[in-house]
Amino acid sequence: MALTSAHSSKGGNPSPSALIFDSGVGAISIAREIRQRLPGLTLHFGIDNGFFPYGDKTEQALRPRIVECATAMLAACGADILVVGCNTASTLALPALRERLREPVVGVVPAVKPAAAASHSGTIALIATEGTVNRHYTRELISQFANGTQVINVPAPELVTLAEAKLRGETITGEQLAAVLTRIFAVPGGERVDTAVLACTHFPLLRDELARFAPRPIQWLDSGAAIARRVQWWLEELQLVQPQTAATGQLLCTAADGLSTVCAAFAEFPLSGGTLLTCPPGVNTLADPD
Ligand code: DGL
Repeated sequence: MALTSAHSSKGGNPSPSALIFDSGVGAISIAREIRQRLPGLTLHFGIDNGFFPYGDKTEQALRPRIVECATAMLAACGADILVVGCNTASTLALPALRERLREPVVGVVPAVKPAAAASHSGTIALIATEGTVNRHYTRELISQFANGTQVINVPAPELVTLAEAKLRGETITGEQLAAVLTRIFAVPGGERVDTAVLACTHFPLLRDELARFAPRPIQWLDSGAAIARRVQWWLEELQLVQPQTAATGQLLCTAADGLSTVCAAFAEFPLSGGTLLTCPPGVNTLADPD
């Protein structure tokens, strides 16, 4: 894509950039889609590894944490756009982030609408963290967009851990996926599921394994490509010029513990070494039980 206007990026940065925020490696599934569509966009990553996993934390603990961390990370890297590359965070904190920030905020919406449209059987599975599955936002999305399609909710926190393990180089076995696959296919209505929504950004990283070990072929949909299109729309809206190649981005983390593992997982992106951001005061940390 070549954008034509000569508006310069925020803070005099040589090229436009986006910050992708997540609790962990889920940001990678979103970043791959963005990089494919917008190869000249510089990508920074904001990883709240100090509060990983998000899926089992309360809304009261997560919302202020997400807003404070993402705000601090955006200020640190000077990105033009914030991409919340996390369904758990998006279903919870988008309004608060948009209120706080003047930069555009792009969030991940579980692909319920496309899945309902793609399903021939009229039954889909929505696979997500416990937080996302139980969220008011998700229920509203289903009632507005499932369009009469039956939705089987599948909380799958273990897939978050398994995606992190895969990015550390571990091989994921059918045995490790068996319980999740049972929750999709061996429940009432499961025999009719022909489409699954991967409603956690960690899960597309396990798409091959899920497809390989599923009892029969189905469609596995996620929102990564839609996010990339939305980021492109914003670049055009902001009239930012995208160069041929992206510049080196920053990797910002909230915990020193595991920082080298995070750096290794993101090695496919041009990044300067991991930088530790202390969480702003007043925000829950791991030491503060929810
Ligand atoms: N990648 C995240 C999501 O999309 C969160 C996983 C977690 O930290 O539980 O929901």
